[in-house]
Amino acid sequence: MLASQRDLFDIPRHVCYLNSASYSPLPLKTQEAGRAAVGRKGQPWTLDAGFANRQNERARSAAARLINADPGDVALIPAISYGVATAAKVLTIPRGSRVIVLENDHSSPVLEWHERAEAQGFTVETVKQPADGDWTSAVLATIERTGAPPVSLASISSVHWSDGGMLDIDRIQVALRRHDAMFLIDATQGAGVLALDVKRLDPDVVIFPTYKWLLGPYGRAFLYMAKRHQNGVPLEQISAARRNVRAENAVYFTDLAYLDDARRYDMGERDYFISMEMAAIGMEMLSDWGAAAVAERIAMLTDRIADGVRDLGVNVLERRLRSPHILSLGFAGGLPDGLIEKLALENIYVALRLGRMRVSPHVFNDEADADRFVATLAKIVRR
Ligand SMILES: Cc1ncc(COP(=O)(O)O)c(C=O)c1O
Repeated sequence: MLASQRDLFDIPRHVCYLNSASYSPLPLKTQEAGRAAVGRKGQPWTLDAGFANRQNERARSAAARLINADPGDVALIPAISYGVATAAKVLTIPRGSRVIVLENDHSSPVLEWHERAEAQGFTVETVKQPADGDWTSAVLATIERTGAPPVSLASISSVHWSDGGMLDIDRIQVALRRHDAMFLIDATQGAGVLALDVKRLDPDVVIFPTYKWLLGPYGRAFLYMAKRHQNGVPLEQISAARRNVRAENAVYFTDLAYLDDARRYDMGERDYFISMEMAAIGMEMLSDWGAAAVAERIAMLTDRIADGVRDLGVNVLERRLRSPHILSLGFAGGLPDGLIEKLALENIYVALRLGRMRVSPHVFNDEADADRFVATLAKIVRR
């Protein structure tokens, strides 16, 4: 099994950080790269003309490798909401059709469709949070609902951000394909930990940021767009998306045609080479470890915690329904007042999400963290 990677981070032993689903710490290497990059921006004359582009392509390739895409199928974007807005501009949602979203999914893969539904004449159908925690069956039932308008798109997370439920994207893709419907996957809570092979699955859109499981900075995210959708109009109009609009040219607007691949969807002012390099480093680390090894290590910790809290009257999703890396603890009668804060006072960091406690370890956590969390939680709730 992959060993604890704690030494690669700046995490004092008394800190028990179990909140990577919110934001992970930066590896030491990433922090050093960030400091060096800030220094470079302080002395811009040291930068050669190709520097920013090399950083951009390094990050693009690292993102592509994580999901087995070609680098040209990946655009550089700042946020999931930006990627969904781009997809919504590019994909055709027929009038009278349904777009499927998940109840209480993060706002980013959801709100764009609500905003467009009336004007574009489609409906948004929300899959109810299933009482048994089985999101996959609930989505499949919604796709197959008899008498309903045709499904055109599912815009959903591969792991539910609040309850940690895992969606079987293979089975959902098969069902969507049967209905000629498209698939937008918000892989924010999955990329790097759960293997995702776009060449095999062939989804339409996949989007993920770096600041959570990919151990990177804020403001860097990636948009995979299937080749069949690489002919759309980008959200923003920038020179880098065009074949030949360059400041170095004698004629600035030499060729206005869009690039042939997903690079046409790159964000404006993309040469932000400080955090782009930082983003690349975390993604490269995750790819080098491999999703299977990362998931195995974190599952060992979430299983240990799930076992440990069994006698505390909390409920957790069944093992087969939950993701290996996010454990959501529900308390009968709701979360006891101030519980998250009381844990933080003991240097144990977890998150309150929609009335439940979300516990999300990463590769830097170990058995000592898991046991300390369980023991401290037991002490507080039994008081
Ligand atoms: C499933 C999911 N999608 C998206 C986001 C963030 O979206 P954005 O990058 O648009 O802020 C989060 C953050 O918690 C998330 O959990």
